[in-house]
Amino acid sequence: MMQAIEHQAVNPWVALAYLVSGVFFILALRGLSSPATSQAGNRFGMIGMLIAVVTTLATHDIANIVEILIAIAVGGAIGLVIARRIAMTAMPELVAAFHSLVGLAAVLVGWAAYLNPGAFGLLESSLRFSAELYDGTVISGASNSISPVSKVEMGLGIAIGAITFSGSVIAFLKLSGKMSGSPILLPVRHLINLGTLAVIIVLTALFAMAGPDQTLPLIVALTIAAFVIGFLLIIPIGGADMPVVVSMLNSYSGWAAAAMGFTLGNTAMIITGALVGSSGAILSYIMCRAMNRSFISVIAGGFGADASAGGGETKEQRPYKQGSAADAAFMLEQAEKVIIIPGYGMAVAQAQHALREMADLLEEKGVEVKYAIHPVAGRMPGHMNVLLAEAQVPYENVFELEDINSEFAQADVAFIIGANDVVNPAAKTDKSSPIYGMPVFDVDKAKQVFFIKRSMGGVGYAGVDNDVFYMDQTMMLLSDAKKMVEEIVKALD
Ligand code: TAP
Repeated sequence: MMQAIEHQAVNPWVALAYLVSGVFFILALRGLSSPATSQAGNRFGMIGMLIAVVTTLATHDIANIVEILIAIAVGGAIGLVIARRIAMTAMPELVAAFHSLVGLAAVLVGWAAYLNPGAFGLLESSLRFSAELYDGTVISGASNSISPVSKVEMGLGIAIGAITFSGSVIAFLKLSGKMSGSPILLPVRHLINLGTLAVIIVLTALFAMAGPDQTLPLIVALTIAAFVIGFLLIIPIGGADMPVVVSMLNSYSGWAAAAMGFTLGNTAMIITGALVGSSGAILSYIMCRAMNRSFISVIAGGFGADASAGGGETKEQRPYKQGSAADAAFMLEQAEKVIIIPGYGMAVAQAQHALREMADLLEEKGVEVKYAIHPVAGRMPGHMNVLLAEAQVPYENVFELEDINSEFAQADVAFIIGANDVVNPAAKTDKSSPIYGMPVFDVDKAKQVFFIKRSMGGVGYAGVDNDVFYMDQTMMLLSDAKKMVEEIVKALD
């Protein structure tokens, strides 16, 4: 035990190694902020994690190294198989499942530290011992109590970990369809949530102040209350809103890891946890802003409660024009500038490769082709960017909403493939619409609009009708996206 404390407190090489791994994690985040540098970013993250893991294993008496290597091999193999098999559209539920494990790990570490504080260097006597090491003085004498500060860190780690665990399990069940995706609204749920939160804070304070013999019931109650609030926060949320929640849970899992880093006296965990916690929170904020939702209501667990996600509003029959792949190919060839707007339907149909082929053919014929990506197109952040990158669409042809929106006025064709809400003008004009206030593409300014979807009956995530279907310059291409684009490619050849 003393050896562990000695390493943590005085070994400057360990501190340096953790600092270097922290710098790699920051470089990783920086790299991941642009598609062009994302692969380098991933590599930086791997190097940082390797340094942190090797340093921890080499300098701490944690367990038998063979057992650890077997555990890494088994875990790594499972991770590899899952990562290879997972479909892109199922990514949010996989991420939710992984977060639940981070939360559970934080709870288990917290409990292990509580049950065996000596092994974690948390007894007050050992803390005094490590503090005195710098001037060489060794203080003898034993105390069996954990310091109040360590207990606060432990309590917070367990609480945030338990919230992350139960919240992520519910998110996983809803996203994978194993539980109904519709919101479950308890009466006075905000009051219940606030009350449970207050109970957790009070229990943490009591746990920190209690004597060694009185802590057990408090930490048990704290753990149960945190599991319950994680559950309560996520059940009122509709299935389609879950990606924002997954990113919020990602942030919580980071804070749980940071709290555990304090308990374990591990700087690498504190840095990594804080990076994950803050980047997850920033991402959730960006997503909320792009969807015109309140960030506070997401944290409070009321988000999505009144969203009409996927709801089938009764639609009046309005006239629209329908075209064929041959019609679309003919007009695309004549165009000078085409802007493609991909959405969730492109991901469902896996039409990105065919789309790239179509764009290549058009470019060969002298047509300028650009891709316009809305920040919440699809069902997770960067969904469209990842699919287009998979199809090797050049990054320089891919533009964000604010960079390309003014170009629709000069475009001959706005080619909408599986997108719907992100081009719906009701977001600009109809105050009663659930998407009112969300910035959308000005496709109505393009000379011609092609709109690929499977049927006039299908709605987007928000469940509302779209005036773009019925505009004079719109031609509906009703088919599976991949099939339609493949037919256009054939007609262009
Ligand atoms: P949506 O508005 O969801 O529309 C998807 C469209 O794809 C529908 O028109 C659907 O019509 C069509 N479609 C589905 N499968 C298809 C297929 N196989 N072939 C052709 N078309 C198909 O998509 P969007 O424009 O990407 O908007 C995203 C929405 O999700 C926004 O409302 C956003 O707020 C929400 N959201 C996004 C995120 C993130 S982070 N991206 C997170 C949570 C919520 P048919 O059924 O008729 O084919």
